[in-house]
Amino acid sequence: MRVLITGANRGVGAALLSAYAARGDEALGTARGGGDLLPLEVTDPASHRALADRLGDAPLDTLICNAGVYPDKGQPLDDGYPAEMWAQTFAVNVTGVFLTVQAMLPALRRAQAPKIAIISSQMASSTRAPGGSYIYRASKAAALNLGRNLAVDFKRDGIAVGIYHPGWVRTDMGGGSADISTDEAASGLVARIDALGPDTTGCFETWDGRAHPY
Ligand SMILES: NC(=O)c1ccc[n+]([C@@H]2O[C@H](COP(=O)([O-])OP(=O)(O)OC[C@H]3O[C@@H](n4cnc5c(N)ncnc54)[C@H](OP(=O)(O)O)[C@@H]3O)[C@@H](O)[C@H]2O)c1
Repeated sequence: MRVLITGANRGVGAALLSAYAARGDEALGTARGGGDLLPLEVTDPASHRALADRLGDAPLDTLICNAGVYPDKGQPLDDGYPAEMWAQTFAVNVTGVFLTVQAMLPALRRAQAPKIAIISSQMASSTRAPGGSYIYRASKAAALNLGRNLAVDFKRDGIAVGIYHPGWVRTDMGGGSADISTDEAASGLVARIDALGPDTTGCFETWDGRAHPY
């Protein structure tokens, strides 16, 4: 099975890359800087085109849209959350997901049972809404909404779409006091994505298999 993971140079993405490679899948990871991984800047359509060209005609079984940013942690409500921060966060967490899906669509259509996993967050939820982090929450809510709608449009293509909360994970983004390791997050996500199919398309689940409230 061929799987492509965005933002795979560190954090959850790097652990996903290792988990798939360890079980013998053809695991491809992307990184902004390239290096040992495939170069991809998710905000840049030209970068997506170059990646699609580089991957050629081979089928892609699973696409994992993992790359993300969370720059507004602790912003003050009265005078924080600058407009540029909104624009940059949405460019990565929302437009970046859409551009990645669009660029990989021809390769996904060539696979037998293609899947798209969008790494959103519990902070996408409107049911669980404790306030704060307005930009990140809104961007992850938009990514969840994208996934829910793509699931409907892709039903006729047989492409299943799942949206996931990876847990509160000890990464640069999650911080050192987060609940779980990147390996725990990755093994849970791999199990969820294995179980994803036409019957569960459009699901919003946690890494450990609970349905998350929208
Ligand atoms: N950690 C948590 O507790 C937690 C909780 C809920 C959801 N999530 C979500 O899980 C995903 C992974 O999070 P993480 O904790 O592993 O974050 P992380 O450690 O901060 O890593 C983020 C990854 O995204 C990449 N990235 C950022 N902007 C990009 C861009 N414009 N183009 C391409 N790649 C870009 C980063 O690349 P660079 O190294 O080049 O910056 C890095 O590889 C994110 O979508 C995040 O929102 C995380």
